[in-house]
Amino acid sequence: MAHPSVSRCLVLVLVMLAVVPQAYAQNCNTTLLAAVKADPRLQQLAAVIQAAGLADTVERLDNVTVIAPDNNAFNGTNGLISLLRQNNLNLTDVTAPGQNRAASILLYHIIAGPARAADLKNNQVLTTFLGSNYTLRVNKQTAPTLIVSFVGTGSNATVTAADIPVCRSIVHVVNNVLLPATNLTAIPAYTAPGAAPGSPPGSMVPTPPGTQAPPGSGASSLTVGSMAFALSAALAAVLMN
Ligand SMILES: *[C@@H]1O[C@H](CO)[C@@H](O)[C@H](O)[C@H]1NC(C)=O
Ligand SMILES: *[C@@H]1O[C@H](CO)[C@@H](O)[C@H](O)[C@H]1NC(C)=O
Ligand SMILES: *[C@@H]1O[C@H](CO)[C@@H](O)[C@H](O)[C@H]1NC(C)=O
Ligand SMILES: *[C@@H]1O[C@H](CO)[C@@H](O)[C@H](O)[C@H]1NC(C)=O
Ligand SMILES: *[C@@H]1O[C@H](CO)[C@@H](O)[C@H](O)[C@H]1NC(C)=O
Ligand SMILES: *[C@@H]1O[C@H](CO)[C@@H](O)[C@H](O)[C@H]1NC(C)=O
Ligand SMILES: *[C@@H]1O[C@H](CO)[C@@H](O)[C@H](O)[C@H]1NC(C)=O
Repeated sequence: MAHPSVSRCLVLVLVMLAVVPQAYAQNCNTTLLAAVKADPRLQQLAAVIQAAGLADTVERLDNVTVIAPDNNAFNGTNGLISLLRQNNLNLTDVTAPGQNRAASILLYHIIAGPARAADLKNNQVLTTFLGSNYTLRVNKQTAPTLIVSFVGTGSNATVTAADIPVCRSIVHVVNNVLLPATNLTAIPAYTAPGAAPGSPPGSMVPTPPGTQAPPGSGASSLTVGSMAFALSAALAAVLMN
């Protein structure tokens, strides 16, 4: 008869086996959302995904690359939360309907198809799920050590853990949140399909943070003008699968 502690160990190992080896599973039995939630480095990311209303989207994504800012990237000295505070904003202000810049920022971290570090090329331009006008550039140094960074319009981020496989997707953990514009005001607010009555489905409308756009006004008269973005074709295509 097995010693009780041996059985406990066996149970623990079995539990770990059930949770860990998505990479080796023949059939995918996890989701990107579950993988993010299970990674202690990505707890803030999981919280922001939830707050931004993108949990269902991330749950359904497959065959993508997620650039995943670590906890410190959100909550550290130079993190997104600090940036918001400097602008007298909090997470609620940038996730409220019509103000959801957090979702736009998150979509700027997702790329169609699995892009492993080895496959990325220096100066390669990557189109993000925020739309074709929101690209990232790869900065890749190979000597003396491999350093992969993503250069965004408003900030850069360096990969600290590359090539984490989640089913057909790849996750790269990075040290910073990538911003699609040089200031928060210029980041379009994202509207989930069907979320806000009167707003175009699946659109991103720039509105100044902290101010409420008049109901039905659509876009505000901001620096970026009255652009309305269709839900990125890449995102739509992936979600159709
Ligand atoms: C995932 O799939 C593997 C292999 O198919 C299986 O051993 C494991 O129990 C599954 N895990 C979960 C959480 O369903
Ligand atoms: C950031 O960290 C502080 C404590 O270090 C915590 O109180 C706060 O809730 C965190 N912010 C978020 C958005 O999780
Ligand atoms: C965020 O700031 C708004 C004011 O802009 C305030 O009403 C709200 O209570 C704050 N939320 C949190 C969670 O601090
Ligand atoms: C995964 O995405 C890439 C890039 O968009 C695409 O070329 C490829 O066909 C996709 N693979 C599957 C199995 O969907
Ligand atoms: C991209 O920006 C250009 C103007 O710089 C605009 O004409 C075009 O409609 C934009 N495309 C998308 C998909 O938003
Ligand atoms: C991002 O990196 C590029 C070099 O690839 C540099 O020119 C730029 O100043 C950096 N941007 C920020 C915000 O650090
Ligand atoms: C914010 O960025 C936009 C677009 O890059 C720019 O036109 C505007 O002047 C910036 N606003 C501030 C306050 O820096």
